[in-house]
Amino acid sequence: MNFSSPFWRVLLLIVFLLWSGTPCHAAETFASRSYFYVGGHYENATNGEVMVDQMYVEKLVPIHPTQKYPLFFITGAAQTATNWLNTPDGRQGWASYFLDQGYTLYLTDQPQRGRSPWLPGDGTLSNYNVSFVQNYFTTIQVAKLWPQASLHTQWPGTGQPYDPTFDTFYASQLQQQSNLTLTTTNNIHAGISLLKLIGSAILITHSHGGPYGWGIADAVPSLVKGIIAIEPEGPPFMGMIVASGKARPYGVTTLPITYDPPVTDPVVDLAQETVKSMRENLSDCIQQQEPARKLVNLIDIPVLVVTSEASYHAVYDYCTVEYLRQAGVEVEWLNLPAAGIHGNAHFSFMELNNMEIVSLIEDWTWKHI
Ligand SMILES: *[C@@H]1O[C@H](CO)[C@@H](O)[C@H](O)[C@H]1NC(C)=O
Ligand SMILES: *[C@@H]1O[C@H](CO)[C@@H](O)[C@H](O)[C@H]1NC(C)=O
Ligand SMILES: *[C@@H]1O[C@H](CO)[C@@H](O)[C@H](O)[C@H]1NC(C)=O
Ligand SMILES: *[C@@H]1O[C@H](CO)[C@@H](O)[C@H](O)[C@H]1NC(C)=O
Repeated sequence: MNFSSPFWRVLLLIVFLLWSGTPCHAAETFASRSYFYVGGHYENATNGEVMVDQMYVEKLVPIHPTQKYPLFFITGAAQTATNWLNTPDGRQGWASYFLDQGYTLYLTDQPQRGRSPWLPGDGTLSNYNVSFVQNYFTTIQVAKLWPQASLHTQWPGTGQPYDPTFDTFYASQLQQQSNLTLTTTNNIHAGISLLKLIGSAILITHSHGGPYGWGIADAVPSLVKGIIAIEPEGPPFMGMIVASGKARPYGVTTLPITYDPPVTDPVVDLAQETVKSMRENLSDCIQQQEPARKLVNLIDIPVLVVTSEASYHAVYDYCTVEYLRQAGVEVEWLNLPAAGIHGNAHFSFMELNNMEIVSLIEDWTWKHI
């Protein structure tokens, strides 16, 4: 056969184009990569001197950096920095998108997770089983543990074990520290260390990472130019759907955060009031009684809260938004269905329409930061 004939050339070109357009071969955007650790300190453990609580940071610099502020990514429970790289089905993730827009990125593995070491015996570790990941993230439309779940359409693949995309996602779920005091303290300490090293940044937090973002901004507000909170842990003061009972005594955080007038005992000083839900399928909210105390260190920082249509957060994220606003924070709520983006669950950044969502986030960033 003469492979240089026009017929073969055209055929090979078509085959190549089909192959290169197949999602599992989508190339990540080129970047220069380096890594380092922040926040660690030496301690005498039972087996001698060791370093503890350091956070792994992966720095990605685009070929053409054009943005004034870098992005500092903080993941949710059981996740690592892989969240932002290629998606579990091999498409480009948000890291590629932001590199293409000229941002320098700092991707992190929370202290005590992933490439950030855990000192054996420190606190207690837990993990997510398969049914939890399916019921809350990938096949929520089957389990229907909350009304909006039936609207889920954007997960790539079946969302079940032995589907290669699910297997890749589930394989990336790590053990995590269960003690919230330890995780919060370590993450905030490491986050402050990172910002002191690199200077100002925009934070992008997801879920469990939400309160770490509020805490870091509270500690070093001048270094935080904006916070993009993807379905931040909530709602104020109570566990809901994935948890129950009282939670987050400081409203949006478990550990103290600065209010004005100051809060000494949150049970006494943050007087609560329940606001009834105005719509079917939305939860009641707990707000402060007026006059509300202000989250003074956050009031000059633009905040975007992003919520998916089918996620369990669709039930209550509006309460977090209202709480922050009442406390004086300048918050815009990107409620995805209201912006015409339908069918997402909690891991919107790796679902089929991940690039549509991130472009709206970037629009907000341009306008506000
Ligand atoms: C650990 O113990 C050794 C021996 O007592 C001491 O020299 C060292 O300073 C201790 N390290 C820390 C971090 O406390
Ligand atoms: C899976 O995890 C969930 C949430 O922690 C728990 O409620 C459930 O009992 C676990 N399933 C099994 C079979 O242990
Ligand atoms: C509430 O959820 C149910 C079940 O998904 C749905 O049929 C209904 O339309 C929803 N109501 C509103 C106001 O969205
Ligand atoms: C969590 O860790 C803190 C700090 O080490 C400790 O004081 C607290 O007792 C721990 N909580 C639980 C429930 O183990």
